Amino acid sequence: MTTISDIDQGKADAFADRMMGVLNDASTAMMVSLGHRTGLFNVMGDMPPSTSQQIADAAKLNERYVREWLGGMVVSRIIDYTPDGKTYALPPEHAAFMTQAAGTDNLATFAQFFALFGLVEDQIVDSFHKGGGVPYSQYPTFQKIMGEISSMVHDASMVDTILPLVPGMTEKLEHGIDVADIGCGQGRAINVMARAFPKSRFVGYDFSDEGFSTARAEANAWGLTNATFEAQDVSDLTVKGKYDFMTSFDAIHDQAKPGQVLQAIADALKPGGTYLMVDEDASTHLEKNLDHPIGPLLFAFSVFHCMTVALALGGEGLGTVWGIELAQEMLEATGLKVEEIKRVDGDIENSYFITTKPS
Ligand SMILES: C[S@@+](CC[C@H](N)C(=O)[O-])C[C@H]1O[C@@H](n2cnc3c(N)ncnc32)[C@H](O)[C@@H]1O
Repeated sequence: MTTISDIDQGKADAFADRMMGVLNDASTAMMVSLGHRTGLFNVMGDMPPSTSQQIADAAKLNERYVREWLGGMVVSRIIDYTPDGKTYALPPEHAAFMTQAAGTDNLATFAQFFALFGLVEDQIVDSFHKGGGVPYSQYPTFQKIMGEISSMVHDASMVDTILPLVPGMTEKLEHGIDVADIGCGQGRAINVMARAFPKSRFVGYDFSDEGFSTARAEANAWGLTNATFEAQDVSDLTVKGKYDFMTSFDAIHDQAKPGQVLQAIADALKPGGTYLMVDEDASTHLEKNLDHPIGPLLFAFSVFHCMTVALALGGEGLGTVWGIELAQEMLEATGLKVEEIKRVDGDIENSYFITTKPS
């Protein structure tokens, strides 16, 4: 048995410091979520140093709450404080990662997930004891947060960065082909592609009412006649040899039956068709993920959502960190050929698997 005198005190002290940091950073993350959801970062991004009253007025919020939140942001070193005049400022170097104007660099959006995960913690604790999982229906804001993040990414990168990863795909889309997106969520990927390539036809599949109804409303608002959305459990997709190009964005690792879905995709492609699978960039081997820049985030996502929603459906619970080695194996098991696994500068989360169906 280890006694207190056997331990390396330096190591223990360093760990205690790290744990204090963890607790502080977790607290900051929750406050960042509030700053994002109330619009405070956006408002402050456009303001000179201001008092809590001026900031609250500009954001149309209650001053007492705003002042307490500002205190937390100041001690987190996110917002600067000047005691003379009691003014607060969001430095431009920080605004570059915290406001809507930052586009895909807006890291504050991701903080919203932690509050959402808190909502299901009791049920997850229960699942640790009894097995099973937590169904999608228990995550009231999941589609909205996910849609917000993927809209940001797809608006900025779909046409100029993501599609050109697939050799010749932009030209084919310009000419006119049939495209499907699997697990389309709120459908921004489809709508952005459909708007950019009016001669091609696009279908988004998802089993979330909230997902595809938001997607349809957006397609209507944008006046798109080449984008449709279908309510479909993609593990039961029976379409054969129909699509020239299929995509999935962040939508395979949380499938209850991922192998079946990948097979359905392979079957739905025309011979010679292409499937672009965008999914987590991590290793299947835990020891290779130690230095992953967002390793803890990925495992938290898995336990608090991705693995758990799949287990709730009686699935395998592949988990967010299934890894590129297993992904490649599962893709190849369907008969698809993995041509290349690419990465995109600035995207530390995803690998881009470019696969083809043999002609
Ligand atoms: C992590 S979200 C990604 C959504 C979207 N692709 C994006 O990037 O915003 C995964 C999506 O897959 C959908 N999904 C999961 N399993 C599904 C299934 N068996 N059939 C249809 N959709 C499914 C979920 O409803 C959810 O919208």
